[in-house]
Amino acid sequence: MKSPSFRRGARFVFLTLASAASSVPMLASGAPAASTEVTAPQMIDAFEGTFGVHAGQRRNHIKGTCAAGEFVGTTDAAGLSRSGLFSGKTIPVVARFSIGGGNPQVPDAAPAPRGMALEFHLPGGALQHITMINVPIFGAASPASFRDAILAAKPDPKTGQPDPEKLKAFAATHPDAMALTELASHHTPTANFYQTTFFSIHTFKFIDAKGTEHLVKWRFAPRDGTREMTAAEKKAAPHDFLEMNLIERTRKGPAVWDMIVYVGEPGDPQDNPTLAWPENRKHFTAGTLTITQATPQQKGVACEPINFDPLIMADGIAPTNDPILLFRSPSYAVSFAKRLSGQ
Ligand code: HEM
Repeated sequence: MKSPSFRRGARFVFLTLASAASSVPMLASGAPAASTEVTAPQMIDAFEGTFGVHAGQRRNHIKGTCAAGEFVGTTDAAGLSRSGLFSGKTIPVVARFSIGGGNPQVPDAAPAPRGMALEFHLPGGALQHITMINVPIFGAASPASFRDAILAAKPDPKTGQPDPEKLKAFAATHPDAMALTELASHHTPTANFYQTTFFSIHTFKFIDAKGTEHLVKWRFAPRDGTREMTAAEKKAAPHDFLEMNLIERTRKGPAVWDMIVYVGEPGDPQDNPTLAWPENRKHFTAGTLTITQATPQQKGVACEPINFDPLIMADGIAPTNDPILLFRSPSYAVSFAKRLSGQ
């Protein structure tokens, strides 16, 4: 079986908003704690304050491309989860590929995370969502910490760039951002959506036919291999190449990802998305995603009106108590309600 090692094969890029602070020193010890309370509307206010309001559009991952295809699960996965996702039947999928952040004009070569959002239409009509980015860990352990990262990344009106002093203060007070910042410093953006590995980041529960729960993480590993841009490619890259390349790629033939599931062991962290599991955890191929078509998000495949809320799950897969995972749902709802009503 192909074993997409995080170090060898799964190269990714990112930045999450927090890693905008990547060039400043981290002063973790003795740092004051981040503020702890934030509501979903306040989170969306923070996005709007940093990126502006782009009426009718997503407040995060605003730039994207629609796609469609299908998924077929394996019997290995069916042994751990009774979800219809792993029935072995061909499951229709609506997908959206995206770039993190709320700037619709962001260049595709920017060090922002790549996103892959999937809506699976299961037999019987149930839906399963999986919404991932191309890093194995997140840059915040709590919603408030992520809110602080967004606030710190707000451009200074004088320079059009984030204020270095604010970034420094953020880094000094948010040690949970350190692991991703360190990881991001070794990577450049991936060359194409179809050459990108996407990670669950969160831990989820697979529930089997007997009702037993199994802690899992997963990643979608591309058959085209994960490839980062060289410095020369970054420099020469057109402003918007990701969508064009994906459309061209799917015209030549399907782009395929294997869903690799990693099974947790006792003591593995499950509620902190800034912590990865060891690479040697038992893992297996749980299914294959085949993307056959890609279109601009305003015309073609209808991914634009979907709220890819990661808590939309069919029987057989369940969330953990990860506070970031649980906070995503109400935040996406605020963004979704605003954009649907034209705000
Ligand atoms: C507290 C943490 C987070 C907040 C507040 C947040 C917020 C948001 C919001 C507001 C949207 C736009 C929703 C819409 O209008 O439909 C969004 C989209 C997205 N987020 Fe998050 N997010 C968080 C964490 C994450 C994490 C951990 C991941 C990856 C595991 C992720 C991946 C994505 C992706 C891929 C999209 C684009 C979905 C699409 O194409 O519609 N987010 N996020």
